Amino acid sequence: MEIILATHNKGKIKEFNELAKGTELNFIPVPGNLTFPKEIGTTFFENALIKVNFAFSLTGKTCLGDDSGLEVDALNGKPGINSSRYSKESTDESNMDKLLNELKGIPHEDRSARFKCCLVLIEEGTNKLISSEGTIEGKVAEEKKGDKGFGYDPIFIPEGSLLHTAEMDQKKKNLISHRANAFGPLITKLLSGPTEK
Ligand code: IMP
Repeated sequence: MEIILATHNKGKIKEFNELAKGTELNFIPVPGNLTFPKEIGTTFFENALIKVNFAFSLTGKTCLGDDSGLEVDALNGKPGINSSRYSKESTDESNMDKLLNELKGIPHEDRSARFKCCLVLIEEGTNKLISSEGTIEGKVAEEKKGDKGFGYDPIFIPEGSLLHTAEMDQKKKNLISHRANAFGPLITKLLSGPTEK
């Protein structure tokens, strides 16, 4: 079964296909290179919905939208839905630098945070909406470590781990990530038939 992922990002397509390994699902990018509408939602769900609605209106096929980000308790949930554009320059480096700066002096035990991911799927034919949320709890480190992954991975330490996420290989991260935790239940709902969505 083919599912159109509401993104032009090749890395995301690859990650979702890795998560779908062993299932009958195959993720492909939204066709063309039209710019996605602005993410003006106030929650991860609303922004995922904006993306999937756009892809579904273009294709009429089963589409999946996702939105994710990092919530830091000491900052009342910031950067949250603004994770990718937290700093003025909006690069991974500048976003992390801004966050580390804001948490300067805050002891390790008070640096709790979580990545959150919301997935919203619209099913071809039924037009049914299926959604799911996943999280991974952890702490914001005092310094960057590792060169794998993307975004805030160099400064995030998952609960129960000694490694920063950017020190983990992709397979290990995929086993525990917020996207993986949202993906499993979503696929169960999708493949469980017309009821119970
Ligand atoms: P989006 O879901 O593509 O809008 O991404 C939101 C932003 O959240 C990314 O640009 C990253 O800054 C951050 N983010 C989301 N997931 C991850 C992750 O797995 N690792 C590190 N940063 C992430």
